[in-house]
Amino acid sequence: MMIMIKILALAVLVLVSIATAEADGIALLKSQCASCHSLDGPAASSLTELKMRKGPDLFYAGNKYQRDWMVEWLQKPVRIRPAGMFYGEHIKQSEKRDMIDESTLKPHIALSVTDAESAADALMALKANSNLIDDKPFVAAGAPLGEMAFDKFYGCMACHLIEPGYGGLSGPEVYTAGRRLQPKFMRSFINNPQAWNPKSMMPNKHVPEANVDNLINFILDLAKEDWDAK
Ligand code: HEC
Ligand code: HEC
Repeated sequence: MMIMIKILALAVLVLVSIATAEADGIALLKSQCASCHSLDGPAASSLTELKMRKGPDLFYAGNKYQRDWMVEWLQKPVRIRPAGMFYGEHIKQSEKRDMIDESTLKPHIALSVTDAESAADALMALKANSNLIDDKPFVAAGAPLGEMAFDKFYGCMACHLIEPGYGGLSGPEVYTAGRRLQPKFMRSFINNPQAWNPKSMMPNKHVPEANVDNLINFILDLAKEDWDAK
């Protein structure tokens, strides 16, 4: 009998602490993150509205990011969009090509390990747009074809870095995307960027299904390199 009561008490304690951790996470997001990130959507429907967003939308974070990456990044944030949220606001013209004006880019807030964990948990619970994700298995090959498709056929490299300093500057770097993002999100986003963000600068390239998986396998391969050591 005593043992039963002890087990029961322990179970209640565990449940309560899980519930408070999640509540802590939500409170943290509301107080420290909501000024820049949308936590409850919808996506911006006009360019003016988009430009008022100071950070990427997080209301579908649970369908987009890998939790482990978030926990790490939130403690030690490094730049993902080489020229910030809006390319045009952070470049200066130079003779050869556009240069990023680093002085206009601010560092991201960093969290303690405990806060990073609870923020990540609360973010992973934000599951808007699940209807845009499908469960089809991935065809796990074709990375070399994916690289050709990325660099040449679809011109993805015009906007995305495929290694530090190599590629376009207006979109997020893709050489770390395989660590940051869920492959199913990438597939859905490449298929139809505007379904996620009606005002996305990324064009819908109408990539055939098999090529989308090749592109993603290429992106996943890129993420295996130890970029920090370079
Ligand atoms: C002053 C505005 C601002 C605040 C406050 C802020 N962020 Fe951000 N956040 C940004 C910007 C800008 C980026 C894009 C960084 C980049 O691309 O390098 C970003 C990126 C992120 C990303 C990566 C998303 C992606 O798709 O690249 C996550 C996750 C994130 N923020 C979570 C948080 C959390 C959690 C908080 C609160 C503890 C927070 N942010 C507070 C502006 C902000
Ligand atoms: C004209 C510029 C442009 C081109 C071309 C482009 N993208 Fe993008 N891409 C973006 C921008 C900007 C984003 C950020 C999301 C947004 O703004 O909605 C993005 C986001 C992404 C993401 C999600 C990355 C993240 O960290 O959130 C992936 C994956 C991606 N693009 C892959 C591709 C692939 C594959 C192609 C070629 C078929 C491509 N992109 C072509 C501009 C571009």
